[in-house]
Amino acid sequence: MEPSHLSEAAELEKLCFSAPWSAGMLLGELKNPLSHYIAAVADDGALIGYAGMQAVLDEGYIANIAVSPDHRRKGVAGALIGELISHSLNQGLSFLTLEVRESNYPAISLYKKFGFEKVGRRKNYYRLPTEDAILMTRVFLNERNEEP
Ligand SMILES: CC(C)(COP(=O)(O)OP(=O)(O)OC[C@H]1O[C@@H](n2cnc3c(N)ncnc32)[C@H](O)[C@@H]1OP(=O)(O)O)[C@@H](O)C(=O)NCCC(=O)NCCS
Repeated sequence: MEPSHLSEAAELEKLCFSAPWSAGMLLGELKNPLSHYIAAVADDGALIGYAGMQAVLDEGYIANIAVSPDHRRKGVAGALIGELISHSLNQGLSFLTLEVRESNYPAISLYKKFGFEKVGRRKNYYRLPTEDAILMTRVFLNERNEEP
């Protein structure tokens, strides 16, 4: 993801989340050496999705993944998460983890498809509306160095 994508990413945040990240918050992530943010871009250059994670020691945390409503169910999120998994393996991370709203069936299905398992719950983690977060993790212990 480049700084030129930030205004479109902030608009996508507003479409997708009740507590959207601003362009300034996303810029902070682009400047953070621990962060890895990637953009999915259409042929005309428009941003259609993005995803981001942070790596701390050997632990990976997915912070955001969002796809424009007009471009869903076409494999965009799958491509983004596949790239985050490759990056995690390249970095030698032990696991990749995330929080997701309990009611977010599309996202939970996405993560399950890519090998994430439910490992816990954070009570009332989200606001607007209040809802539990499900913790999902993919462990890489036997996979590291097996992929480029
Ligand atoms: C969740 C989200 C990122 C999925 O993006 P997408 O590009 O439509 O997903 P893909 O087309 O790559 O789908 C990959 C897999 O995810 C699952 N999936 C995606 N959308 C789904 C839906 N509406 N219902 C059920 N499963 C779904 C399926 O397993 C799908 O595999 P399949 O096509 O073989 O069935 C998108 O719906 C979105 O941006 N939602 C709003 C933001 C959000 O909730 N982000 C996650 C925060 S934790």
